[in-house]
Amino acid sequence: MFRVLQMLTLCFAITVLGCSKNQLEQCNDNTPLYTLADFPIGVAISPTQLEYNSDYRRIAFAQFNRFTPENALKPEALHPEQNAYSFFVADSLVALALQHEKTIHGHTLVWHNQLPSWMQNFKGNKQEWIDMMKVHIQTIVSHFADKVPSWDVVNEAFEDNGEFRENIWVENIGKDYIKLAFEFAREANPDALLFYNDFNVAEKSKKCKAIVEHLSQLKEDGVPIHGMGMQLHIFNSSPSENAIKTAVDAFVEKGFLMHFSEIDISMNANGDMKLTDGKLQKQGRRMKALVHIFQQIPTDQQFGITVWGISDIDSWIPSFFGREDYPLMYNENYEPKPMYCGFREGLVN
Ligand code: XIL
Repeated sequence: MFRVLQMLTLCFAITVLGCSKNQLEQCNDNTPLYTLADFPIGVAISPTQLEYNSDYRRIAFAQFNRFTPENALKPEALHPEQNAYSFFVADSLVALALQHEKTIHGHTLVWHNQLPSWMQNFKGNKQEWIDMMKVHIQTIVSHFADKVPSWDVVNEAFEDNGEFRENIWVENIGKDYIKLAFEFAREANPDALLFYNDFNVAEKSKKCKAIVEHLSQLKEDGVPIHGMGMQLHIFNSSPSENAIKTAVDAFVEKGFLMHFSEIDISMNANGDMKLTDGKLQKQGRRMKALVHIFQQIPTDQQFGITVWGISDIDSWIPSFFGREDYPLMYNENYEPKPMYCGFREGLVN
C-alpha cells in the first residue's frame, strides 16, 4: 500500500512539474556523440566556418567523425569551367578533416542545382553529353580516390509524384543517366560506396516507391548502387515517425546501406515562428526517434547519421527559404539544444 501511495505521489509530482516521461533530460555535450554510437556520426561542413569560427570548429572536431562538405564538393565549386577544376578549397578541407581522423562523405556529383553555367549551357549530342558527364564524374572521383571513400553520385532525380525530375541530364542523355553515373563513378574508384540521395522520401509515397523500384532494378542489373541517402529535412510536425520508418524499411528490405544524410528539423512549417520550450522539446524527441529508427536497421546496413550543420545560425533553412527557424542541435551561442540531448539519449537508451 505504501508503495502504491509512493508511486501515486511520484506520478503526481512528475505531472505537476511538467516532467512527463516525454521530457528530455537536460544534458551537456561533454561526451562526444560519435563515441556513443556504433556507426559514424556526420555533419555538413563549411570550410569557411571551420577556419574562422572557433566554436564551430571545436564542436565539429569534438562531436562528429564524418564530414560531408556542405557545398565544397558540388559541381559549381569543383568544376567552374569545362576544362578547369578548382580543388584548392576542397583539398584543404579534406586534408584538415583527415588530420583530425574524420571520414569524408562526398556530396554530390550529378544534380540539377549548383551547376556551373558552362554545364547548364552545354551543347552537344547525346554521346557528347555522356562523355561530358563521364569526365566530370571521373576527374573528381579519381582526384579524391584515396581520400573520399563514399559519394552521393546522383542527387534528387525524382519528383514528389514519382516521375523523373526534368533536368539537363535526363533531357540530354535520357533516364539511363543514373545508371551511367554510377558506372562511371565505380570505374574511377572501384572501392567507393556509391549512394543515391533524395528528400521527401518519407513524405511522398509515390516518390519513395519510384526510387525503391528504380534503384532495386539497377542493383539487380549489376549497377554499383550501394546505398540510399534519405535527406530528412523534416518538420517538428511532419512526417510521422511511422511514415519515416515505412520508407526506411522499403530500402532496407532491398539490401541498401542507409544514410540519414541531411537531418534538420524545422520548427516553422507555416511562418508563425515562436520559439517555445515545448517546441524545442518536441524537436529533441523527434531527433531521438530518428536515432531509434536508425538503430532498428540491421547493423551491416547502417551507413550513418548526418546532421545538416552545427548551429541554428549556420543552417541553410532561414536564408534559403526566407524564414526564421531553429532546425539544428546547437543554438546561436553554440550551446547544445534539446535536439542535441535527444540525439544523445537516442544513442544511449
Ligand atoms: C544546401 C546548402 O546547405 C546551402 O548552403 C546551399 O546554398 C544550397 O544547398 N539538398 C541537398 C543539399 O542535397 O546539397 C542542399 O544543401 C540542401 C538540400
